[in-house]
Amino acid sequence: MKKYITLILLTILLVSCIQPNPSFKEEEISILPKPSSIQIDKGSFKVEEDTKIVFQDKTQEKAVNYLTGLFNKAAGFNLEVVDNKVEDAIVFEKIEGLKEGAYKLEVSPTSIHAKASEENGFFNAVQSIRQLLPTEIESKEKVSIDWFVPSVTIEDEPRFQWRGMHMDFSRHFFNIDEVKDFLDNMALYKLNTYHMHLTDDQGWRIEIKKYPLLTEKGAWRTPNNQDTICMDKSVENKLFAIDESNFKEVDGERKYGGFFTQEQIKEIVAYADDRCITVIPEIDMPGHFKSAIDNYPFLSCNGESGWDTVFTYPTCLGKETTYEFMKNILAEVVGLFPSEFVHIGGDEVNIASWEVCPHCQKAIKEHGLKDEHELQSHFNRDIEQFLQSKGKKFMGWDEIVTGGLTKSANVMWWRNWFPNSPKIAAENGNGVVVTTTAAYYFDYLNEGTTLERVYNYEPIPADFTTEEEANVLGIQANLWSERIPSYKRLQYQAFPRMLAVAENAWASKENKDFEIFNNNVEKQYNRLDALGVYYYVPAVKGLDKEIAFVDETAISLDLAYELEGTEIYYTLDGSIPTKESLKYDAPFVVNDTIEIKARAYRGDIYNDLKSTKILHKEYTEPVNVTIKEKGLKQWVLKGKRKEVSDIKIPKTTNFTKVDSIALGDLKDKKRFSVVYQGYFKAEKDGVYEFETRSDGGDELFIGKEMVVDNSGWHGPRKRYGKIALKKGLHPITIKYRPSDKPRVIEAKFGLQGEELIAIDSKVTGY
Ligand code: ACM
Ligand code: ZN
Repeated sequence: MKKYITLILLTILLVSCIQPNPSFKEEEISILPKPSSIQIDKGSFKVEEDTKIVFQDKTQEKAVNYLTGLFNKAAGFNLEVVDNKVEDAIVFEKIEGLKEGAYKLEVSPTSIHAKASEENGFFNAVQSIRQLLPTEIESKEKVSIDWFVPSVTIEDEPRFQWRGMHMDFSRHFFNIDEVKDFLDNMALYKLNTYHMHLTDDQGWRIEIKKYPLLTEKGAWRTPNNQDTICMDKSVENKLFAIDESNFKEVDGERKYGGFFTQEQIKEIVAYADDRCITVIPEIDMPGHFKSAIDNYPFLSCNGESGWDTVFTYPTCLGKETTYEFMKNILAEVVGLFPSEFVHIGGDEVNIASWEVCPHCQKAIKEHGLKDEHELQSHFNRDIEQFLQSKGKKFMGWDEIVTGGLTKSANVMWWRNWFPNSPKIAAENGNGVVVTTTAAYYFDYLNEGTTLERVYNYEPIPADFTTEEEANVLGIQANLWSERIPSYKRLQYQAFPRMLAVAENAWASKENKDFEIFNNNVEKQYNRLDALGVYYYVPAVKGLDKEIAFVDETAISLDLAYELEGTEIYYTLDGSIPTKESLKYDAPFVVNDTIEIKARAYRGDIYNDLKSTKILHKEYTEPVNVTIKEKGLKQWVLKGKRKEVSDIKIPKTTNFTKVDSIALGDLKDKKRFSVVYQGYFKAEKDGVYEFETRSDGGDELFIGKEMVVDNSGWHGPRKRYGKIALKKGLHPITIKYRPSDKPRVIEAKFGLQGEELIAIDSKVTGY
């Protein structure tokens, strides 16, 4: 009997020994950005405590260090690095002929071979291995699991060499630990360029030894309107709270701010370099310079510092002291950042200051320049020459194109409404980085600049020739921080859209597919959770407008898109929903006016609050009239009115019959108001939505009830309102008081929930 048991035990032992490593299915694997080609093979490689790493030369050092670092932290073992060939190992092997960043990865049950021609390629191979490993590899504490890497054969190379992310440290500050965390997450997705917007009107964030006031004073501000907006929002969303560590007592006053010492900058640059990430510094000049001018007022045209109508007073370009100041700063900056490129901003300059400045006007004359834009280009050329003398390349926002470009300047295109900027630059042979607001401004909300929109945006303009296309260095997404006061909020704005930028920057056009990408993104959430990343979760939809009803209504709450593990919580008493609030699981009936507030959660991550009123309405009865003419009466009244409500309804028959509500020829008129009046035909009983769009202001009435209040004094904007109408004719009046330059008046209607259509003679008469 004993013999028999021993035999069974031996058999079990034998079977478990020859048990092959598990195979993985395609659904279990997500490498993002998507490799150029990937084949999934049988089995997997198991990384164990005694697994060796075969290392050949220095080009593999960063990759090897990163990989051993991951295992040290998460697996608690130190993989041995050897320089002789061994079997059953992770082998780094240099091959010729792959482009920068490209790599090949062959994983089998017996070995891993990572091949590349230079260090970026090896590093990228490690990031693919990282994503093939269980998400526990991201753990900051030791985890005891089997570390299988699925067998795959990958060939991979990037589309662009500039795969960038930007952070704005001026509007709100982020500290060195947050920067390092961000760099780690960039590395995971093969993003390799980190643009630091270090200076702006709202704060100076880099120590410059020659000008100590820049950080002693310029890095600290009395909380401004951006701060108060954020603090107000923090009541309903803690991500808008400003961390106490960013406040300090300066000159007896509590101030907001922060800056990096030069030692910290070196630490950031080195940390990034270990991850094959280049840090690009931006010192924005000659505008966006208030935080410096406040403390060195001789820099501005007339010693004044502050805001003009839209932008701040810039530095004076007619005084030699400005040029000297800039070069002294840049001399320190170039010593800190080994990057090829130095970004000097150049955007949004208030040239009105230069128009009236005798120094600037003298400089324009002396240098034979046409205008203030050419003056800025003259300044740029001088700065560029200085940078070149330090071995650096000059880069600026696309405003630098306006006054003329040198052959060697590089342009960051952000204003997609200026399609000529990149065209002129690329035609001229200048390098271009695409970072347009249309897709790559990640400070814009996820609901508008959606993941799909970012992903499907083709960065190369359609009219680019092959030669012009070759001048596109790559793409970048920007995180302007006016409304981003905390690192968690920054992550919420960045993820998952950063994954779309990563794939846009990496994958060829032919290799892209949103559905496949989206599937891969969904598989990344667990890894992001393991990394402690705060990401955007789909919003509760359908609460952007008030909901009106007559008897009762069923309210259903849905997510803008499905995401596993996401739940909706809501309240009906005006309080802010938490996970202790009502959990939504099925439509519910409402029969009174209430306010609903709802929020989606995935774990402890939540979305922006959505809320609206659910309004109980009584039906408005129709009037009994006979229509003689289709369309509406239109009166154009002379004279300017202060308020829309100052417009009196004319009693005269001196009107024009119109078939639609539109500005038409009135766009060339000034100082007038318009009244439209007639009857609106409700085809059936129901809740109707009316919408107007106008500049200046307007109001829409059904009978005596103001349904749309679009009054005030504003640029073109829409407003809506709802009313329950019984089938039949209802008196309608629209009053429009245009702004000084009339631009638009439009009115639409529809049954609640249906598409709105223009109010015209099909539904009106008098
Ligand atoms: C910018 O957004 N002003 C570059
Ligand atoms: Zn000046």
